Amino acid sequence: MGKTYAAITGVAGYVPDYVLTNAELETMVDTNDAWITERTGIKERRILKGDRMGTSFMGIEAVKDLLKKTNTNPEEIDLVICGTVTADHNFPDTANIIADKCGMKNAFTFDLGAACSGFLFSLTTGAQFIESGRYKKVIVIGADKMSSIINYEDRSTCIIFGDGAGAVLLEPDTENGIIDSYLRSDGSGIEFLHQKAGGSVLPASHETVDNKEHVVFQNGKPVFKHAVRGMSSAIREVMKNNNLSAEDVNWVVPHQANIRIIESVARMADFPMERVMVNIQKYGNTTAGTIPLCLWEWEDQLNKGDNLILTAFGGGFTWGATYLKWAY
Ligand code: COA
Repeated sequence: MGKTYAAITGVAGYVPDYVLTNAELETMVDTNDAWITERTGIKERRILKGDRMGTSFMGIEAVKDLLKKTNTNPEEIDLVICGTVTADHNFPDTANIIADKCGMKNAFTFDLGAACSGFLFSLTTGAQFIESGRYKKVIVIGADKMSSIINYEDRSTCIIFGDGAGAVLLEPDTENGIIDSYLRSDGSGIEFLHQKAGGSVLPASHETVDNKEHVVFQNGKPVFKHAVRGMSSAIREVMKNNNLSAEDVNWVVPHQANIRIIESVARMADFPMERVMVNIQKYGNTTAGTIPLCLWEWEDQLNKGDNLILTAFGGGFTWGATYLKWAY
């Protein structure tokens, strides 16, 4: 019997209606459209507004659409993984809430962290359950409500992040699907990118709220350098392991962190930008949401058998690349 691959057989996404433009940010912090555009490539991002609206809201919208467009009975889903760093609650997991609201009664569910690499790590994890033959239908979500952990008085972070969610269905395939992944972590990266309070090290208190410690802390320059190095080296590893040259790859799907990071990674891996998916100008960095949101947006342009390399870098540090053959 031949190998069983975990193939993406459908993709869906959701972004909130509210558009936070660079012009509006100019009224909130000392910044301007020209600086943001030149330094990041971002023109606008989406923000989930409304009382008690969490990450699961966006995940539910994406998954409902995914189930509908793939004509899938929710009770057939075996496993739901949600990559996120902005879970609705510390517990239960957001994947749990999404499964309940979408009628996926027979699934087991869990969240996976890994920050901006959350979707890539979740995809590789979910694929194992299909490749082993144990399960037939797995949903992998990347979703983050970054606006819930952003200090809108900090101009170095509030311009970058946005809210959004994407989801894919994984099913067995004998020809196409996820071929290979190269994933890495380096915990020493905590110094440059983390959220100080709200976890067990520094639980929420009046003091942590007053000190604005429940938000993203970032030292941008080292993160930038590590991101370029991490994603380009992961792409190189995956290409070498699978005897791929740049001409063999139809699309590179990079995490949308900064247009200058994406361009540097493309240059180092010898990919023309025409074959690199970029939508950062519209959505900013939605953390675990960026890669599935790109796949969702480019779905119509993808053909069965296309070679795709997905790559991400995030807090942790975490990074990696996945080589897959598009299955439909
Ligand atoms: N508007 C205007 N000026 C700003 C600004 C803003 N929003 N944010 C910072 N500046 C200023 C700084 O204060 C600094 O001024 P100074 O020279 O007077 O001190 C100057 O611009 C340069 O700041 P610096 O931080 O060196 O800019 P940069 O070119 O490194 O760009 C980032 C900052 C955050 C855009 C960039 O470092 C980056 O994208 N890093 C990676 C972030 C990332 O991808 N994170 C997610 C990882 S998955």
